[in-house]
Amino acid sequence: TTPLRLGIAGLGTVGVGVVRIVQTHADMLAARTGRAISISAVSARTRDKDRGVDLSAYAWEDDPVALAKREDVDLFVELMGGSDGPAKAATEAALAAGKPVVTANKAMLAIHGQALAELAESTGAALRFEAAVAGGIPCIKALTEGLAANEITRVSGVMNGTCNYILTRMEASGKPYDEIFAEADALGFLEADPTLDVGGIDAGHKLALLSAIAFGTQVDFEGVQLQGIQEVSIDDIHRARDMGYRIKLLGEARRTEAGVEQSMRPTLVPADSPLGQLEGGTNMVVIEGDSVGQIVLRGAGAGEGPTASAVMGDVADIARGLDIPPFGQPAATLAPAQRANSATE
Ligand code: HSE
Repeated sequence: TTPLRLGIAGLGTVGVGVVRIVQTHADMLAARTGRAISISAVSARTRDKDRGVDLSAYAWEDDPVALAKREDVDLFVELMGGSDGPAKAATEAALAAGKPVVTANKAMLAIHGQALAELAESTGAALRFEAAVAGGIPCIKALTEGLAANEITRVSGVMNGTCNYILTRMEASGKPYDEIFAEADALGFLEADPTLDVGGIDAGHKLALLSAIAFGTQVDFEGVQLQGIQEVSIDDIHRARDMGYRIKLLGEARRTEAGVEQSMRPTLVPADSPLGQLEGGTNMVVIEGDSVGQIVLRGAGAGEGPTASAVMGDVADIARGLDIPPFGQPAATLAPAQRANSATE
């Protein structure tokens, strides 16, 4: 068989992690997938920067769209981020050319995932994004592969490590939100726009994707009832603790008679439950299916190794020729999700 040649756009933490895995695990990946995986070309905003990996064997493109269209690129790996702009343009260029795309871009997929999935279907290209939801935790593969025979009744979990870090640090230190926020900022945990984290938007993006996969519906980020952690006080946390609970930024998507209900908000969880015991920057995804019952997946939701692991899992699937439609059937099998603002409570 011919090698699967990657074009990688974006050489931040995750992009470098992907390069490192290809360089160190090439033989193992070839043995497992039956196909050699190589890198043809890369692109990033700045060329002259020491990233700690040797990129000299790869062609350089300044323009990610040009990278996506290169003849020696069979699979486009989008790790730039940003819901619009170059990430979306290059993803569209690859899919339009019939090339598979693997991306970690939750914001782009939460907003444009439906249109991108339709474009992918029209050209027969695969679109995979395990790394976009809960970093290293293979929750999308769990739903689409291992749990394929289950009717999913509920997916829930903690999908933003930064918020979980802030909430657990507030409890442990007794310090107020503002002080721990500054601490998280100094540690480099926050997204460039911190509102994405603390406003629950990043976690909401991930929930919308997971929900669409779990229930075979259209991606409906607008339908997520969203509340961030900015208003959580140290008093709230102490009161919860005194009652045997902890406060988590919990996402939940449930099947109801009216459709799928999605929410992401600070929630009381029993302190002795798996979610209640989740510390620091970790993520947890809880899936409930009619045959399997409840399963709990826990792991790193961000960082070089874990996120690159998820990206390469998708690359390996494509090397094997596995193609799974991302959002089930484009036509939703359930009524559109109830809108938060039209719900009468
Ligand atoms: N800001 C995200 C988090 C990064 O804290 O979980 C991973 O998506």
